Amino acid sequence: MNGPISHGAFTVAPNVSCVSSTTPVPGLGVLPVNAFLVEASEPVLVDTGLPALVDETISVLTTRIDPADLRWIWLTHCDADHVGALEKLLTLAPNARVVTNYLGMGKLSMRTPLPPERFYLINPGQCLDVGDRQLRAVALPSYDAPETMGVFDATSRALFSSDCFGALLDDAYGATSIEDVASIDSSSVVEGLSKWTMVDAPWLAGVSDSTFRGSLVELGRLSPEHVLSAHLPPAHGKLAWLSEQLDRARRSDPFVGPDQSALEAMLSAA
Ligand SMILES: [Fe+2]
Ligand SMILES: [Fe+2]
Repeated sequence: MNGPISHGAFTVAPNVSCVSSTTPVPGLGVLPVNAFLVEASEPVLVDTGLPALVDETISVLTTRIDPADLRWIWLTHCDADHVGALEKLLTLAPNARVVTNYLGMGKLSMRTPLPPERFYLINPGQCLDVGDRQLRAVALPSYDAPETMGVFDATSRALFSSDCFGALLDDAYGATSIEDVASIDSSSVVEGLSKWTMVDAPWLAGVSDSTFRGSLVELGRLSPEHVLSAHLPPAHGKLAWLSEQLDRARRSDPFVGPDQSALEAMLSAA
């Protein structure tokens, strides 16, 4: 796999679609990168995919909805793999407002100046009314940017968990769309979740057991049926199992990336 690949869209829950892609992470495997469409009466796009796949993401999204009909673009956080198609979508969807928090608005404004009326600010615990349902902003136990918020849709019982519960997968999983994490060998998921968590949230190693487990209990109270991470194939009925794996993952060895000589060795081997 030489670069990011778009894998199209598929349904993951009633009126919820996954816009799926993967990107290689040299030396570490393949990372799924998902955005999600909630076809509420006021349609919501959760995240906007990779910068390298802007045209593909919009073309796949268009198979599910006319982008002009989007009313909300909810950014779980502002990392590049979540805001890839944002600028183009804001043009294609002139009625869509960007849902984030105050820090998210500040970060986005440094790259894409937007009038304040195009934002809608929300904090964990608050809900956004999208016509036929309420979407709740939730704090997550694992993240790599402080503006991160997940989204819980009590109607579909989908939890959009951003970077949390992501996994680096074997290279072989990069070539095709994986519609259900249950189709991957569970030991690969456990290993990949551990790898990703130590890359994405090394600070978890310093969090006390009681604090971390308290955050898992809070999430469990939502009882999501579908865990829709930006970086894992969709998981159904697996929150307890994923939480257990995350609790183990945070005690893994810290990730240390290749230094210059290791990078040069990788480049010459390639
Ligand atoms: Fe991130
Ligand atoms: Fe991410």
